[in-house]
This record gives sequence, structure tokens and C-alpha cells, in this order.
Amino acid sequence: MRKTIQRTMQFKFQMIPSAVLVSLAALSLLLLTASVATAQPPAPKAKGIESEGYQWNEMEGEKVEALTLTGDIENGEEAYEICSACHLPSGAGRPDGTFPQLAGQHPNVIIKQIADIRAGRRDNPIMYPFAITLTDPQELADVSAYIQTLPIPTDNGKGPGTNVAMGKELYDRDCVECHGNNGEGNAEKFYPVLAGQHYKYLERQIGDIAEGRRRNANPDMVKIVKEYSPEQLEAVTDYMSTIEWPDRQKK
Ligand code: HEC
Ligand code: HEC
Repeated sequence: MRKTIQRTMQFKFQMIPSAVLVSLAALSLLLLTASVATAQPPAPKAKGIESEGYQWNEMEGEKVEALTLTGDIENGEEAYEICSACHLPSGAGRPDGTFPQLAGQHPNVIIKQIADIRAGRRDNPIMYPFAITLTDPQELADVSAYIQTLPIPTDNGKGPGTNVAMGKELYDRDCVECHGNNGEGNAEKFYPVLAGQHYKYLERQIGDIAEGRRRNANPDMVKIVKEYSPEQLEAVTDYMSTIEWPDRQKK
């Protein structure tokens, strides 16, 4: 059946003069571009780490308001529906690193990251069209409050485990100050939880941080990470993916 259709189509295409085909292709390309352009407005570009005078986590924009609001969990659950397409209904993300785990992340960090993505301070073209479905600062607070209700998964994607000892040494020397002994981060200071995050995602982030592509990154962290050799980056990421935060199981 499918073969017959294919053959008929082939036959029909042979009957159409090539000039018409070319203009048809041009037209559909144009329509495609137009629909993509209207469906997905390009993200704005806010000043990031590459700009002079960049101040990390400057208290400005919708973030400031969202941080003072009490989230409505029910509305947050509705708003999260579209997010679950990528981050999964459980908030576990994917071990292949395409989508980070959100469950267990500090609410302040969630709000900051979404606000940065919406402002174009953290480039995320895949998520941007969905990030802007959140209507206002209240909905940023809502979705962040809902994510806090999700039980924290324990089976994150792990690294190869070959360089964990070296990674721990580096982590204890350079990262503990901000991300904590157990990768618990610091909610007040907007330092993210690293414990339980997928190896592949951490690997991409640390590369982006080292190369200046994560434009909303903390400059004190970048100073350290950009001096790392590829082997050190690999080792510290391997170690990070093994950290179990004791509090994680308590929810
Ligand atoms: C089309 C897929 C997709 C959808 C839908 C999506 N995201 Fe994301 N999100 C991503 C990707 C990809 C990243 C990581 C990008 C990167 O590597 O920098 C991300 C990152 C994040 C982060 C940062 C996590 C961290 O550890 O820093 C937060 C917070 C987040 N998303 C929240 C949301 C919320 C809330 C929604 C719904 C309004 C949503 N996302 C919808 C793909 C998506
Ligand atoms: C001065 C404090 C500080 C130090 C030191 C620091 N970090 Fe960070 N780190 C941060 C902050 C803040 C963020 C979130 C950046 C932002 O605002 O988007 C972050 C983000 C990250 C992320 C991305 C997390 C996510 O969910 O997307 C990784 C991975 C990371 N740090 C690893 C490290 C490693 C490894 C070290 C040590 C080599 C380190 N950090 C040292 C403050 C720090």
C-alpha cells in the first residue's frame, strides 16, 4: 500500500516542470521560516559574563518580584504541564543530559534560571518559546513552588566512575565553598544544588562555564573552572554525579 503511494507520487513529481518545483520549494521554505518566526520569537539578549560591568545576579527585572511572592502550587501545577514535556512530569529530566533534573533544586535558583532564560542572559533556544508561556512573576513563583512538591528522584545519570578520586580532591578544594560538602548548594545565595544532577547535563554545563557560554555564570566560579584541563573537568564532573545529598531522601 505505502509503496503504491510512493510510486504514484514519484510519477506525479516527474510530470511537474522543474521550474515549478523550484518555486514550490522556495515558497514552502518561506512559509516555514515565517511560521517558525511567528511561533518562536527569537530570545532577547541581555548582558552576560562577556560584557563589561556584568554584575552576577543583579537584583533587577521580574526576578525581584517573583522572589517576594508566595507561589500558588495549584496554578504552578497547571503551568508546569508544558514543562513536563521535556523535564518530565516527575521533574527528573533525562539521564542522557538533554534536560536537567529540576526536582530538588532550590526555589530561588529555579526562579533565577527561568528569569535569566526569559531575559536572554542564559541562552536556551530550545526552552525559550516555552519559558515565555509563564505569564508574569507570580507564575514564575507558582511553577517554582510546584517543583518543590515533587519527590526527589535518586537515580540520576552517573559518570564513568574512572576519575572520581581526583574529582573529589578538586571539588573539595575549589567548589565546596559555594556548592557545599554534599552538593547541596546554598538557597539564599542562589548557588544551585548539584547532588543528584545528571552527569551528561553537568558535563555540558561545566564546558559552557569554562568556555564562557553560560553567560549568567558566577565570575568567581568561571575564574576557577576556566583554568581546568579537560582531564580535570572530566574528573570533577564524574565526582559531582556521584554525590548523594543526605537530605534528598527526606521529602
Ligand atoms: C522543549 C524542552 C523544554 C521545555 C518545554 C522546558 N524546558 Fe527547561 N530546560 C530545557 C533545556 C534543554 C535546559 C538546559 C539548557 C542548557 O543546557 O543550558 C533547561 C533548563 C531549565 C532550567 C535550569 C535548570 C538548572 O539546573 O539550571 C530550569 C529551571 C527550567 N529549565 C525550567 C523549566 C520550566 C519551569 C519550564 C516550563 C515553563 C521548562 N523548563 C520548559 C528544555 C526545556
Ligand atoms: C563563588 C561560588 C561558586 C564556586 C566557587 C563554584 N560555583 Fe558552580 N555555580 C555557582 C553559581 C552561582 C551557579 C549558578 C550560576 C548562575 O547564576 O546561573 C553555579 C553553577 C554550577 C553548575 C551548573 C548547575 C546547573 O544546575 O546548571 C555546575 C555544574 C557547577 N556550578 C560546578 C562547579 C564546580 C565543579 C566548581 C568547582 C570547580 C564550582 N561550580 C565552583 C557558584 C559557584
